[in-house]
Amino acid sequence: MSDPLTQPVRGFRDQLPPESERTAALEHLARQVFALYGIGEVRLPTLESRELFIKTTGETTDIVEKEMFAFSDAGGRHLAMRPEGTPGTVRAFLDKHLNQQGGACKLFYVGSMFRAERPQKGRYREFGQIGIELFGNPHPAADVEAILALKDLFDRAGLAGRLTLRLNNLGCDESPECRPRFRERLREYLKSREAELCESCRRRLDRNPLRCLDCKGDAEKLTGGAPRLEPCVPCRDHVAQVSAFLGDHGLPHTYPDPALVRGLDYYTRTVFEFQAEGIGSQNAIAGGGRYDSLIASMGGPATPAVGWALGVERTLLAVAAADPEARLLRALAPERKPAVFVALQSQDPRAEAEGMRLMASLRAAGLRTAGGLFAASLKSQMKEAGRQGAPVCIILGDEEIKKEPPSCIVKDMLRSQQSEVPLTQVPEAVRRRLETAP
Ligand code: HAM
Repeated sequence: MSDPLTQPVRGFRDQLPPESERTAALEHLARQVFALYGIGEVRLPTLESRELFIKTTGETTDIVEKEMFAFSDAGGRHLAMRPEGTPGTVRAFLDKHLNQQGGACKLFYVGSMFRAERPQKGRYREFGQIGIELFGNPHPAADVEAILALKDLFDRAGLAGRLTLRLNNLGCDESPECRPRFRERLREYLKSREAELCESCRRRLDRNPLRCLDCKGDAEKLTGGAPRLEPCVPCRDHVAQVSAFLGDHGLPHTYPDPALVRGLDYYTRTVFEFQAEGIGSQNAIAGGGRYDSLIASMGGPATPAVGWALGVERTLLAVAAADPEARLLRALAPERKPAVFVALQSQDPRAEAEGMRLMASLRAAGLRTAGGLFAASLKSQMKEAGRQGAPVCIILGDEEIKKEPPSCIVKDMLRSQQSEVPLTQVPEAVRRRLETAP
């Protein structure tokens, strides 16, 4: 049992520096890439109606059946903490009539998702996703644009050449020859092996046999002999074109990859996943695909769409496996090491007030400032300045503060030199020292 006062709930975690800084840097990088693709941000609610996920993610998916944090509020409303971002984005698209704005609508989101899965390395109950959804373009060019945006982001994070891209075709429900026929053949096959299926697969057999293909228990033993989807001609041509375009862009990928079925119900045609080496068994760092029927199935205007989401923690594990220092991300994180440390020679209310004013004016001048440990001796304040690695230290001495105008000691910690400077000129003096620091 974890201690509720000192430990987070199972599967939930605190993120502290440097991980929290790497997360922020990855998000920053994503925003830069999305600007290149003209993708705007949607900030989604954390809570949605449970019904939304049942109708979109899919009633028979593991996510909805087993993994949702769902509850009823005091008003009896059935709610769920979002397990993924696509349903909320589509709901916002419909709610705000974004289809009526003309042209394509491109949105991205950043935030926590919640799934009550068994926690392990790379699998948490609250995890970060960065995702995009591109609405309105039925052409394979949109699938490729989505995948290239993801690849650009991974390249910039330091993962170039370290990932595997898997691509598959899940067909459509429009043509009876496509997924409907496959569904029937699969159902027959699974029925013939019903005794080998787990309990949830047996339940899903009649309602949605496709879900048995991504069952954590049964998938491997079943996929070998299971019938394969033979997509209808338009579906086949669509994904073949996606594959050809990816080839044009020099993006190696496995296609078709029949084992790639994805765990969500809304996909049509293209599905894809990026996998990383060296991060353990939870190696799918991003996944997505096309979902051309979803919006119409929610009562909206028929709108083609394609998107993906990456897992932030898994991406950071992959970045760390590629470069433990995460140099590319670190370069984007704001520097926190203080440039200047303010210390006091002895406790005196006037000097303390001057010290606090000085720290505020240094920060106002854009200098990272630490100090203010005025209850401690000067010796331990200086020790702390050294521990924090501040290149410049200001000492408000008893003598100097009483002068007219009041002054202080500016100490260059790297050169062990010091000089007396009027308080009003300190920010400028600190800046000069930093500019000429060895
Ligand atoms: P997903 O494959 O379920 O797709 O999740 C996307 C990514 O989120 C995964 O590849 C993985 O990196 C990360 N992830 C999922 N579950 C966990 C977990 N328990 N702990 C840590 N990371 C996790 C979707 O969510 C779709 N909405 C993607 C999409 C957008 N498709 C179309 N548009």
